Amino acid sequence: MQLSLFESVVLNSIERNGSTRAAYSDVAALMGLGESEFRAEKVDLGKWGLRSKWEHRVRSIQSRLRSRGLIERGNRTGEWVVTQKGRSDKSLSQHAGGEMKVGFVTKKGMAFFGPGEGLADLFPEECSLVFCSPPYFTARPYGHGGGTIAAAEQEYVDQIVRMVSHWVGLLAPGGSLVLNLGAHTIAGSHGEQSMSTEMIMLRLRQDLGLRLVQRSVWRNPARPPTGAFTTGVKGAPKCRLKNQVEDVLWFSLDVEKTNQKVRTSRVLVPYSSVYKSEIERKQKRKSSGQAVFDTRTPSGQSKAASTYAEDLGGSIPPNYFEITHESAYSDYSKKVKAAGLPRHPAMCPKELVDFWIRLCTEEGDLVADPCFGSGVTGASAEALNRYWVGADITLEYLQGASLRFH
Ligand SMILES: C[S@@+](CC[C@H](N)C(=O)[O-])C[C@H]1O[C@@H](n2cnc3c(N)ncnc32)[C@H](O)[C@@H]1O
Repeated sequence: MQLSLFESVVLNSIERNGSTRAAYSDVAALMGLGESEFRAEKVDLGKWGLRSKWEHRVRSIQSRLRSRGLIERGNRTGEWVVTQKGRSDKSLSQHAGGEMKVGFVTKKGMAFFGPGEGLADLFPEECSLVFCSPPYFTARPYGHGGGTIAAAEQEYVDQIVRMVSHWVGLLAPGGSLVLNLGAHTIAGSHGEQSMSTEMIMLRLRQDLGLRLVQRSVWRNPARPPTGAFTTGVKGAPKCRLKNQVEDVLWFSLDVEKTNQKVRTSRVLVPYSSVYKSEIERKQKRKSSGQAVFDTRTPSGQSKAASTYAEDLGGSIPPNYFEITHESAYSDYSKKVKAAGLPRHPAMCPKELVDFWIRLCTEEGDLVADPCFGSGVTGASAEALNRYWVGADITLEYLQGASLRFH
């Protein structure tokens, strides 16, 4: 059964707390409203007089859930309980297709319930960055929700290219599209790794005109060994390494314009101690009027003295990120657990998203994530003073994402 975002919040709230009052606070929290703001807006109910608009809305949802047999009155006055039918219908709610609905709104962003393909109609050519981790080629259903992912490699590639063909419409001139993709073993093979990522990269250039700006790698050192040929489950020989890396692919429709927009000075990392002392040595020579010469790396590349004698505030970071995934004890994880919602099974680490937002955008720019998941992109953009839009087809992930903002 397809529940709306509000219906689902009210049903979850009743399951946990059993009262209408608690449902008021959960709906208020979803909308980012304080208790008094939630009560302030009134609606005229004729002979019943003026009532709080939102409290009235929660009560109408409650009676709808009741008439559909999902909740019923409990033994105590004012108590509500979720029925067997309501509980058995707890599988994640996928968007039924068609129009997107507003999920929740924050100071700087808006999350939609529905396919992210629709975002470009609402924000055409407005985004300086589209950061997205679309469903991976896992050859099996993704998490508990997340839509239907093609099991065959070619079909999966077609599916992702079709999604990206909509997302490119979001890109402002000079905008960047950054995709985090992971590839898995082909089901039923002898442990052959899928080349879906490479196939997607070629198609994005050939079909959509997207140019690869740079390829980078994210390693999650905490990712355990997985896959039959790594762990030796089901009698498979243990003959594969632990897969801890994923691709982070940076594309643009116009590399020249993107070069004008991007600044590595926004993502500098601390100098190594060796490098710092080299700068100090060169600066001393300069201030005492001695010449500073170009030096060469062991491979023979020239390090121009003019640049290498200056402290530029930090070192240019490499195209390799070593970041552990979000902990099961993070603030978000605790909040979704307390709210009875599923913890998103495939979150990007905040540090990774922060990095790309700082590199590719400036304060006040708009960032989009068309597969919003647990809302890391939105939370990161908001904290960095950027605007954001997102969409996800799984209602409970969106509800969980809303908890990142309060
Ligand atoms: C890998 S997860 C993204 C995780 C996210 N980056 C985060 O850090 O939480 C992919 C998400 O895409 C969503 N999804 C799948 N197909 C979609 C579509 N067509 N439009 C919007 N969301 C979609 C799934 O529900 C899932 O939450």
